[in-house]
Amino acid sequence: MCGIFGYIGPQQALPLLVEGLRRLEYRGYDSTGVAIHDENAIHVHKTVGKVSDLQRILPERVEGNMGIAHTRWATHGGVTQVNTHPHQAHDGSVHLVHNGIIENFRSLRKRLEQQGIECVSETDSEVLVQMMALELANGAEPLEAVQRTVQRLRGTWGLCIMFRDEDLLICARNGSPLIIGQGVDEMFVSSDPHPLTTHTQRVVYLEDGDLAVVRRSGITMHSAQGVSSTPNVTVLEEEWGESDLGDAPHYMYKEIYEQPDALRQCIAGRVDREMGSGRLGGMRLAHDTLVQAPHVRLLGCGTAYYAAEIGQMLIEKMARIPAVTHISSEFRNNDPVINPKALYLAVSQSGETADTISAVKEIKLKGGQIFGVVNVVGSTIARLCEKGVYIHSGPEQSVASTKAFTNMVAALTIFATQLGRTRHLSKDQGRELIEHLQQAPHLMERYFDDVGPITEAVDLLADASSVLYLGRGLSASVAKEGALKLMELAYIPCLAYPAGEMKHGPIALLEEGSPVVVIAPNDHLKAKTLSALHECKARGAKIILIHEAGDDIASEGDVCIPVPAIHPWLTPLLTVLPLQLMAYHTALRLGRDVDRPRNLAKSVTVE
Ligand code: AGP
Repeated sequence: MCGIFGYIGPQQALPLLVEGLRRLEYRGYDSTGVAIHDENAIHVHKTVGKVSDLQRILPERVEGNMGIAHTRWATHGGVTQVNTHPHQAHDGSVHLVHNGIIENFRSLRKRLEQQGIECVSETDSEVLVQMMALELANGAEPLEAVQRTVQRLRGTWGLCIMFRDEDLLICARNGSPLIIGQGVDEMFVSSDPHPLTTHTQRVVYLEDGDLAVVRRSGITMHSAQGVSSTPNVTVLEEEWGESDLGDAPHYMYKEIYEQPDALRQCIAGRVDREMGSGRLGGMRLAHDTLVQAPHVRLLGCGTAYYAAEIGQMLIEKMARIPAVTHISSEFRNNDPVINPKALYLAVSQSGETADTISAVKEIKLKGGQIFGVVNVVGSTIARLCEKGVYIHSGPEQSVASTKAFTNMVAALTIFATQLGRTRHLSKDQGRELIEHLQQAPHLMERYFDDVGPITEAVDLLADASSVLYLGRGLSASVAKEGALKLMELAYIPCLAYPAGEMKHGPIALLEEGSPVVVIAPNDHLKAKTLSALHECKARGAKIILIHEAGDDIASEGDVCIPVPAIHPWLTPLLTVLPLQLMAYHTALRLGRDVDRPRNLAKSVTVE
């Protein structure tokens, strides 16, 4: 979604801003712009389209050592140049970029109109810059102008503000991430830690309610009410780095094939083969906490939700305590009952998903223990939870999540093993599972050596008006993940169902030639899944069967894609791979933008 980058220091700002925007591109956006402050004026350049489109319209040379930049994902007002950030005040005194949503912007805008200020854009963001300019005109200092403005706002904001007559930037955060990178005699501002890491490892994460005055020489922190505090500098634990495309045609392709290595990173040092258990240090789980937990609840959105569902099933299998998965966006609205002894897990690749953040806050407010299962180090969810497990997938830039899914499943498997070993899982069962988990990266590589008849599957999928995905147990969630991948990349309507439920409704959709993807690993549910497969076949459906090599069902599908055999509790780590490839290649066949599917964003930072 929207991205912010800012700079103040001795260097020319423009190249740094453009590079910052480029590194924010993966978040998903539809328009982009920069504002550069030279000695005398502020120059704004913006365009609908990509950062490369912006580069095309930039003048050859734009001098200036301070600037702000933005990638916009439209929420209020269409995708137009005038709605693109940075926005500027009617008198040119203030420019700003904004992430988030101002809920009361209509009434604020009306009040501005009554004071003779007409906004030129349709955005909620522009009202802020106009309000600040009015405060300045009434004699306020820049910090006061921002404080008075944010005090009147309802909603979420990450703001980076630049003033024509000042050599400073002001940042403000409420619900929308903002990080300041501290260099030597220079400062960087970003909505994402990722673009900062090439400049500095020393960062200040703004918390909700913070205002920061950023000068070349330092940062001062304030609250909206005027209380000052010392900035809390964090040294980024690891170099997030930029994921280079290298020879890969797309980020999604690269990330699919990175899964074996990513999985190794996730497992390394976190399993105790001897004891047949997990060892998730960052979760700081006391033995008593594990033993006394009455139940586990998991939260996530999209792919993270499906990974959480798999985690839920594994927890119940291994620990024999109830586990429930919730869609984050529904959680808070339903006024959930929180048990302080229960374990809550927030699952998220970005760690910035607004719906999951609000669920985490709800749990914390009601005294629950919440743990993050997160990829991006230092992200909001990771920091809010304080305890948890980083899934260590490395940067995932393609909007479609792939390697984060398998690592979420792996991290949750390790957690389930650790919980299970304090209860019903025997040492031998634990050892067997861990052994197979350690084998999984190698088995993934074996699958990638021969991915099977993906092209034939794409032949069936590319012209379909809809696709049904079926699986049972763990594979029901894999089916949902496969359907989500094809839907978001190829824009083909997909339905995923537990195979047994198919005859209670979706079977009505089937007609001659309808593609049905069936996920049937060699587990105790295989025979039942096959019954559903036969019911579909009998109605003329074309079956794409994902199954395990060496089983006895290799001839049941019209297209059969085998994956290497593994422990029945770990099959999602392998059965999802052909589904990812099918979605990727179908999207390509249809000429879709694989890494940046329409309307989607990588981090969904608004509720
Ligand atoms: C996955 O392919 C999606 N693009 C999307 O569903 C994603 O998984 C969801 O928005 C959650 O994101 P998160 O893991 O960063 O919280």
